[in-house]
Amino acid sequence: MRIPTRAIRFYLLPRLVFPVLLLCLLYIFKLVMVDSIYGGFLSKSIAVGQQQVYPTLILPVKAATEELPHKYNLMEETYGRKWAKTPDKDLSSIDCTVEYANQNKLQQDHPCVVQLIQKNYLVRPALRSVPYQLGNPLLLDPSDGQAKGILRILRNQTNGFFIECGAYDGETLSNTLYMERSLAWTGLLIETDQVSFKALKGRNRKAFTSSVCLSTKPYPMEVVFNATVGSLGAILERYDEQPIPVSTSEKNHLRQEEGSSKSDAPYLYKAQCFPLYSMLIAVGRTQVDYFSLDIEGSELQVLKTIPWHKVDIKVIFFHRVCPSHCANFLSLIL
Ligand SMILES: *[C@@H]1O[C@H](CO)[C@@H](O)[C@H](O)[C@H]1NC(C)=O
Ligand SMILES: *[C@@H]1O[C@H](CO)[C@@H](O)[C@H](O)[C@H]1NC(C)=O
Repeated sequence: MRIPTRAIRFYLLPRLVFPVLLLCLLYIFKLVMVDSIYGGFLSKSIAVGQQQVYPTLILPVKAATEELPHKYNLMEETYGRKWAKTPDKDLSSIDCTVEYANQNKLQQDHPCVVQLIQKNYLVRPALRSVPYQLGNPLLLDPSDGQAKGILRILRNQTNGFFIECGAYDGETLSNTLYMERSLAWTGLLIETDQVSFKALKGRNRKAFTSSVCLSTKPYPMEVVFNATVGSLGAILERYDEQPIPVSTSEKNHLRQEEGSSKSDAPYLYKAQCFPLYSMLIAVGRTQVDYFSLDIEGSELQVLKTIPWHKVDIKVIFFHRVCPSHCANFLSLIL
């Protein structure tokens, strides 16, 4: 059947043009909105504490779509989406040790990696009925004001989940203790430094604690931690030519400044790092309300390992800003 040209012009064309125009408008609207929200929060460093020494950055984060052009070293990238349903024989027959996981740069969500973390690198939360062991139990919020700032954004949310990387002793300047004690939050406290971690473990925090470091690559890795007195307690990355500090809490500097350890002897030890996503799977939680990232200079590398289409992090708090390159990267995941 022949359709008259007039009919095409007046019937089909508007019905095609209109949806296309609408889509274009929606796209422009999305760009403008996302840019303005993003720009707003970037410039909005919080200045809630009186001793705000370091620039800080709070970013509400949305889970991205599945379109990121990035390899995250996940099981499904290697074995296909249905890897869990059709387990490869190799997976169950491997000798799952941390050396094996490091050497083979195992996937972030490899069952062996998850099992290793759960068995050897996680301390379970203390029961709510177990009392805290705090130096100053009357101080409800020992943070520099960050906790209140975050809670303003999260509208005093209760029963939330946090990750605090650089948890120090679990009390001094803790950004999460207030939420845990007063608003029934739980979470994951990560502290690489062994002296601090010992103190942290003794606090009876109602959160998972772990003395690992966060990988700057999307696989488990071993690094060397330099906790020599007077140094910045930096982690030296073993596999890089130039050692770079990858994880240290600014709070650790307090301990060194206080001079609680007067020895001049070099204090080097190995530390095991896991990707943040591996840690999240190990604690069975990929929805995070508040992520406090207190590490020195490697924020971006740690953030890049996170498969953003698999996790949902509401707010990230940076203690040091890396404005240009962090901002560029974050604009991708927002
Ligand atoms: C959150 O709690 C604080 C302290 O209890 C209170 O001052 C503030 O008004 C609360 N904010 C909201 C949004 O409920
Ligand atoms: C560890 O830090 C100390 C103090 O800064 C430094 O002298 C030493 O060379 C560092 N060790 C390594 C292996 O980098």
